[in-house]
Amino acid sequence: MRDMPKLELHLHLEGAAPPAFIRAMAQRKTVDLSRIFDERGAYAYRDFPDFLRVYEAACTVLTSPQDFHDLTLAVLEQSAEEGVIYTEAFLSPDFCGGGDLAAWRDYLAAIEAAASQAEAQSAIIMRGCVTCIRHFGPEQARKIARCAQETAGRFITGFGLAGDESMLQPKDFAYAFDAAREAGLGLTAHAGEWGGPGSVRDALRDLRVTRIGHGVRAIEDPALVDHLAETGVVLEVCPGSNIALGLYHTLAQHPIDRLRRAGVKLTVATDDPPFFHTTMTREYQALADQFGWEAPEFDAITQTALDAAFCDPETRSALAKRLEAP
Ligand code: ADE
Ligand code: ZN
Repeated sequence: MRDMPKLELHLHLEGAAPPAFIRAMAQRKTVDLSRIFDERGAYAYRDFPDFLRVYEAACTVLTSPQDFHDLTLAVLEQSAEEGVIYTEAFLSPDFCGGGDLAAWRDYLAAIEAAASQAEAQSAIIMRGCVTCIRHFGPEQARKIARCAQETAGRFITGFGLAGDESMLQPKDFAYAFDAAREAGLGLTAHAGEWGGPGSVRDALRDLRVTRIGHGVRAIEDPALVDHLAETGVVLEVCPGSNIALGLYHTLAQHPIDRLRRAGVKLTVATDDPPFFHTTMTREYQALADQFGWEAPEFDAITQTALDAAFCDPETRSALAKRLEAP
């Protein structure tokens, strides 16, 4: 499983920070973050709102471009060890200078330098999807969209929306998404995780995204499932995340295999792997164990990820070649 080449389209860069990395950074900066770790040193949170609080507390120790350089290297090395050959990471200018464009450019240069280094060392390719955070509000999202617009190119290829789905509506972010679309960026939004099927419909209608982060609660509306299957909208499904955050109790109850059998295009990803005690290999293994997925199912999700990746055509064909190689 580990050696199977994998493409990951839903990974939050800060959310992939190993707890030991954040702890070391906190120690160095004499910040007391003990409250966000349990006795074994793992991230400790009670539920989704608490997860967001812990996540944001962890981010407070990432204060410089060098910190993000080191974080990016650590995350990419970790992913490469799990067989990931392409990762599209959500990058948040909110945590990289608070949405200031000049600061964002500095942070981005550091992230990109680390990505080049990781590619040279481990052949893992990274692209960035600039992401605004829903509970920070539409005004802030406009600033983040500007950061995305101004840095769109070979590395920054997408724009997304994460954060607390219980707050505000997709339409509140339409301006930011329009700006990102005009800049030629691929579009994705978290929906149908904490919001029901209506939130997926709203994101499709108001933000005109081609991919949905999670989207699993579409299963509650058969007409929406048919619509997703017919239009080829891609769901970035993160089963381990959904279970760790209590959306489903067990993988047996998770709708991923029902969505797949209904013809919905989907990919598999880890979201924030150390928070959820997961890796891409563990996700694959769990799907094989629970649903009997074998080579055809894994090949299909890999092909979907390749088709849905927001990268340039050259990168896509280079990845296709690597997947063909025996
Ligand atoms: N940010 C990081 N992980 C997230 C998730 N699962 N949902 C919404 N926002 C997030
Ligand atoms: Zn996510």
